Amino acid sequence: HERTFLMVKPDGVQRGIAGDVVSRLEERGLKLVGAKFMQISQDLAEQHYAEHEDKPFFEGLTDFITSGPVLAMVWEGQDAVAQGRRMMGATDPLDAAPGTIRGDYGLDLGRNVIHGSDTEEGSAEREIDLFFDDDELVDYERVDESWLYE
Ligand code: GTP
Ligand code: MG
Repeated sequence: HERTFLMVKPDGVQRGIAGDVVSRLEERGLKLVGAKFMQISQDLAEQHYAEHEDKPFFEGLTDFITSGPVLAMVWEGQDAVAQGRRMMGATDPLDAAPGTIRGDYGLDLGRNVIHGSDTEEGSAEREIDLFFDDDELVDYERVDESWLYE
């Protein structure tokens, strides 16, 4: 199965939404294979958001993502990257459907609670490698797997 990198951003942690984000992903059937509660360094922030380095919002984005602890996670499952993106909702919470994480908890584009790997080839692998060593990811079977998949 596929893996994706999902992260509760500092606003989500400070607002006490981290647990709900974990619950939603668990209940969907995705399997948690790695998690780290951490403070992102300036250097890691710039690497993580390198694709946006020429954008006018880059400095604000890296300042924000380093402004408090985050919950960085790796989740595994069928179509994990796309499922993660659907469950997050649109980047701007104004466009995010109710029922999505951003659509239920966000108001502001720059404070949208969660990050998730995009569906571009290689994005998830790049982000997982950036945040986790191989020995920090756990291989195991969830007891409900035979009920989740055909
Ligand atoms: P991430 O999961 O955080 O990567 O969000 P995304 O993939 O839905 O959006 P994208 O990668 O395009 O942008 C990264 C983050 O930058 C977004 O989550 C927003 O918080 C922020 N952002 C994107 N576009 C804008 C913008 O036009 N203005 C501002 N201020 N922030 C933006
Ligand atoms: Mg993105």
